[in-house]
Amino acid sequence: MNKPEKFAPANITPADMDAERLVTYPTEAFLSKEYLEAEKRLLWPRVWQMVERESDLPNPGDWMTYNVADESIIVLRKDDGTLRAFHNVCPHRGRQLVSVPDGVHSVRGNNRKTFICGFHGWTFDLDGQNIYILDPQDWHGKLTPEMTCLSDVKVDTWGGYIYINMDPDSVSLKEWMGRAGEILDHFELAKMHYKWRQWAIYNCNWKTAIEAFLEPYHVAGTHTQLLAYGNYYALSRQYGLHSVSSYDTRAPEFQMSESSGTTRAGKGDDARRSTYELIRENYETVNYSASTETLVAAASRLVDELPEGTPPQEVIAHWMASAKRDDAARGVIWPEVPPEIMAEAGLAWGLFPNQNILHGVTFALCYRVRPYKDDPDKCVFESYALERFPEGEVPETEWVYADPTGENWGSVLAQDFSNMEFVQKGMKSSGFRGPLPNPHQEQKVINLHRNLAEFMEGRGAPNLLDV
Ligand code: FES
Ligand SMILES: [Fe+2]
Repeated sequence: MNKPEKFAPANITPADMDAERLVTYPTEAFLSKEYLEAEKRLLWPRVWQMVERESDLPNPGDWMTYNVADESIIVLRKDDGTLRAFHNVCPHRGRQLVSVPDGVHSVRGNNRKTFICGFHGWTFDLDGQNIYILDPQDWHGKLTPEMTCLSDVKVDTWGGYIYINMDPDSVSLKEWMGRAGEILDHFELAKMHYKWRQWAIYNCNWKTAIEAFLEPYHVAGTHTQLLAYGNYYALSRQYGLHSVSSYDTRAPEFQMSESSGTTRAGKGDDARRSTYELIRENYETVNYSASTETLVAAASRLVDELPEGTPPQEVIAHWMASAKRDDAARGVIWPEVPPEIMAEAGLAWGLFPNQNILHGVTFALCYRVRPYKDDPDKCVFESYALERFPEGEVPETEWVYADPTGENWGSVLAQDFSNMEFVQKGMKSSGFRGPLPNPHQEQKVINLHRNLAEFMEGRGAPNLLDV
């Protein structure tokens, strides 16, 4: 008899990562159909997953589907304002309760009081209880509510997002978010709203896609034009399930906490000019995100408002103070983020398994990636910008399908797209010996594989190379 395949139990530890040890891992997580099938059993049904912004389901009766791999979940808001989530499947003979055709982003609606299955008409209320069965006497009175109700899914919220978890025994969302959640709470993401949101079906594995946005180590090679404006040396750290990257400096004497995120000094002798040039270039070429109009406008005035020779730290302090004043004047009040939190919060967070948040005090640039059908070479890629807007000025947005071009996504994202597909192809080469991620700058990538291996019974586990 065939024994079940044995997987190497070895995995690296958080301590290995903190010590920045050399690792590699196999490419099966990106390429293997067997791995993709195993994700359906071992990963997606067991992790907290972001569904949508809470503001997309504002009213009682609002509902939507969240779809990942073979799973579809209905999330809805009840009359009392609470959220509920159910597996999108009829308990009679298994029709999807709400039809989710291939290639749609999500199915949504409002004013829902019941869900009626399109096959034989079984009907469910917003608590998932069955309230109508045709000819129930044919089951001889033996059907119980437990047999005929919808299957419950855990739902919770954090940072203005709705999350679900299909595992009834999972830890709470708060525990799942851990220290990463505590740090990001200071940025009051819940008060931000969509500025734009786009998605595409893209030709690479979901991990290949999310990893293209996890580390700034690729900036010098991919976004070469940005080197004219700033330095992009980075560091990264694991926080258990999640991880963070920050800008770093190769020379310790230049390290400062202000420089960990996007609101930092540019490169060159005149920080008044370079800071403006850096933020303007970033803003305009990253699809008007990762900063705000207010920050760019305040930076444009630095050269008029400060004397020549003002040291970088003073330039940044002045810039932040005037942008904060400008925003307050239009009704956008900045959260007070303590300096030590600002430093620890860094540039961007990778939230396990498939969510990225590059945060600021009034903005965030975010990504989420999911598998597409049963194809390890495809994914559903999403990116969106959040911003804190004055009351009454929140723009109306919806998910827009956008082919991965510079016109649709900005020239910087187009540069990222120009790699991802070819990473997916390149990893299939018989001459590829396995990834050699940078232990200092690409720890978020390593941490993703370390955590994946924990869920995936050891499949794809990183191994130490420096033993
Ligand atoms: S499958 Fe839903 S009522 Fe029959
Ligand atoms: Fe990039």
